[in-house]
Amino acid sequence: MAKSILVTGGAGYIGSHTVLQLLLCGFKVVVIDNLDNSSEIALHRVKKLAAQFSTNLSFHQVDLRDKSALEMVFSSTKFDAVIHFAGLKAVGESVQKPLLYYNNNIIGTVNLLEVMSAHGCKTLVFSSSATVYGWPKEVPCTEEFPLSAANPYGRTKLFIEEICRDVQNSDSEWKIILLRYFNPVGAHPSGHIGEDPRGVPNNLMPYVQQVAVGRRPHLTVYGTDYNTKDGTGVRDYIHVVDLADGHIAALQKLFDSNIACEVYNLGTGKGTSVLEMVAAFEKASGKEIPLEMAGRRPGDAEVVYASTEKAERELNWKAKFGIDEMCRDQWNWASKNPYGYGSPDNED
Ligand code: NAD
Ligand code: UD1
Repeated sequence: MAKSILVTGGAGYIGSHTVLQLLLCGFKVVVIDNLDNSSEIALHRVKKLAAQFSTNLSFHQVDLRDKSALEMVFSSTKFDAVIHFAGLKAVGESVQKPLLYYNNNIIGTVNLLEVMSAHGCKTLVFSSSATVYGWPKEVPCTEEFPLSAANPYGRTKLFIEEICRDVQNSDSEWKIILLRYFNPVGAHPSGHIGEDPRGVPNNLMPYVQQVAVGRRPHLTVYGTDYNTKDGTGVRDYIHVVDLADGHIAALQKLFDSNIACEVYNLGTGKGTSVLEMVAAFEKASGKEIPLEMAGRRPGDAEVVYASTEKAERELNWKAKFGIDEMCRDQWNWASKNPYGYGSPDNED
């Protein structure tokens, strides 16, 4: 019998790619999302890409803070596991509106855990972030590094990690994997699903993509005086399809072993500077990205990249794609959908 997975935030960027991989692996998938930062079109596209598996996907427009709606979803299906992506993720906005972030991310998660517990579904994968390493004193970041948060968004990730540990400590039936993502970029190679941020993008690659399609005049490079190869910040960019596959590996681990609450980094283990990433994108797209050099962005770390050993060893997972493939797929998505899911020639 195919296992049933509930995916919260499944219409979003990482969620939609993961839902597709789940369907292709033969899982039944129920998505809940309030569409606050996403479009249902993403799920229509996922269905098309999933072809004969498309009938295994259903969607409910539900806010995690609406407990009775959540109860109804759990009453209608018995889930084998939950992958919990739903949350707000804009660092700057979280500084302006901390209560919105605590309300949405923390209360949403507590509701989810309560309803899961009440329905006897105690297997969870949670989307954490490399942001919990703060400004790491050394790299690569291993899962044992000290944790800190520089902003309310990061604090929601830290708090939810701790909540998960407490819940598992209180009841050994819970099996939980916390995945700390590094910098997800790229899109599905088909170019039909990808990242479609609302408003001005905060992150590097969505911004570069919008410059390439003519929506913005130039990229501002935040910081050219870091102690790195070319003075710009270094990050661990990971292809979103590799990241999605990391969730399948995590689920497999939860189903196959006696895990309690474990944490894994999902990255490539390689550091790439802003200028290297821009050069790779220019090569992939054939477009020139005009640059404006500026001072450091407040709160930014200098160099962050992952140790991937634990995930490789225990999840039997390793990222396959490099920055050339990330940029190729990001450009394929951007050129086909310059205005994301709202692009005029949109077939859905
Ligand atoms: P996203 O905004 O594209 O997806 C999140 C989805 O959750 C959206 O579809 C949104 O509508 C939904 N959502 C938000 N609050 C909700 C609520 N209360 N009820 C129901 N649905 C709700 O973001 P993403 O990039 O796909 O990120 C997914 C998860 O991964 C988030 O938890 C994010 O914090 C985490 N993460 C993302 C990154 C990144 O760079 N993209 C890095 C580290 C961690
Ligand atoms: C940011 C968030 C972090 C979150 C992560 C993934 C901040 C302070 N941190 O991290 O909490 O977990 O995204 O969502 O926002 N850059 C530019 N110009 C731009 C945008 C970015 O030069 O217009 C540079 C940054 O200075 C950085 C690199 O590109 O050196 C990557 O930036 P970004 O994509 O925002 O990711 P993070 O800084 O890793």
